[in-house]
Amino acid sequence: MASRTRAPAAPGAPAALERDFERFRRELPRDFAAHVRDTFRIDLTGRYLGHAIPHPIGKGSGQLSLNAGQLEDAAAAGLAFAVLKTVIAEDETGAQTMAAWAVHETRMKVERRAAADGRPGWTVTWKGRGWDRSFTEYLALVRAGRDLTRAGRLLVVPSVKYHLPRLGEPFREAEYRYTTARLADAWGEPPLLVEKDFSPTLAGDALADDRAQILRWLREVPGRIRAASPIPVRVAVKLMNARFDDQFQVEMMKESRGADALVVFNRLFDVERGVAFGGWDLSDRNLRVLDGMTPGTPHLRAGSVVPLTPGASPGIPALTGTGNIGSGRMLLEYARRGCESVQLHTFFQLPLSEYPATRGSRTQRALHALVFHPQDGLIAGLLELEARGEVARRDGELHFLDVPALAHRAR
Ligand SMILES: Cc1cc2nc3c(=O)[nH]c(=O)nc-3n(C[C@H](O)[C@H](O)[C@H](O)COP(=O)(O)O)c2cc1C
Repeated sequence: MASRTRAPAAPGAPAALERDFERFRRELPRDFAAHVRDTFRIDLTGRYLGHAIPHPIGKGSGQLSLNAGQLEDAAAAGLAFAVLKTVIAEDETGAQTMAAWAVHETRMKVERRAAADGRPGWTVTWKGRGWDRSFTEYLALVRAGRDLTRAGRLLVVPSVKYHLPRLGEPFREAEYRYTTARLADAWGEPPLLVEKDFSPTLAGDALADDRAQILRWLREVPGRIRAASPIPVRVAVKLMNARFDDQFQVEMMKESRGADALVVFNRLFDVERGVAFGGWDLSDRNLRVLDGMTPGTPHLRAGSVVPLTPGASPGIPALTGTGNIGSGRMLLEYARRGCESVQLHTFFQLPLSEYPATRGSRTQRALHALVFHPQDGLIAGLLELEARGEVARRDGELHFLDVPALAHRAR
């Protein structure tokens, strides 16, 4: 808890940061958020789907959350949350309208991908789509995630691709009902948390050629999931990068008011190669669109109080960022535009030589760089925002969540 008696961070904080960066190369303490609070007086608490999490960094849905071993590894590394691979909804007979997304493909290629302007970056090329094993196996994974969540070790959230009809066609309610009820049953205690994926491969599909059709999905899908669930449910909508302009992305966000959270925005789609991709082009676009929602961030004076209600912007759900996050600085770019947490995939897959840490799992090495890097890490970035007067300490502490709260205020 914030204490009024705590002194502001010592002027020597960056030296302490250098020291921690060096010694944690060999081993990152699992509860590094508590260490950061004690050492730097920085509260890293983030938020995802209404849950307070010890810091804002989680794993996005995909190939890194396919089995219980990967979840255990994430929990052991001290990750804040993990979203399970997207499962394709089905009805009680096993019929899946979106079956074309349940593609089996094992080979992923971690590749360098330069941005349109030449900046070198990374992407993961992969032709697969959703979960390709049985729904029963998925439910077993949900139960493993539930146990980790209950134990307070890792917040785990399932992800679903539900049926999306053409304009004028009805939603297949049986798929919504059956899939959500089974998830709720596996989860047990309410609320059920669900992420609904509007994927980049969908953006590349003829189904997503029509703007009015996409906007109808966004308006109606959160309500459909709520109506289908036998227990209270919180819905995050993971928005795709549609093949329209930035203004349409903003429109998509505004139409998604029925969701509890928005994940902004899934990867771009390379029509020529028929694959989704990331890198700097992805973060450039995502940040530009989020800028369209935030007309300039006001500065926070020392001692002023920031409202910390989730989704504080009128009419816009709480935000979670995704796309080319490979440093604490990039994480803060999303936070300054309102994101209360972030979901990474590519940065957990780089060659080991790309991480400054010399030991530990990829997740640990990634967290070490993201949080403790003396120039590009989250702590360094927050101290810099403080030095520039963009955030101020309250009761002697800097709070990560004050950064997105400022963006919400500006809206
Ligand atoms: C190989 C791969 C598989 C993915 N599968 C899914 C998925 O099934 N559902 C989903 O919502 N997002 C999926 N994603 C998107 C990621 O969760 C993430 O949002 C996206 O890659 C942007 O983050 P990054 O730049 O850190 O990779 C996938 C990404 C990759 C690279």
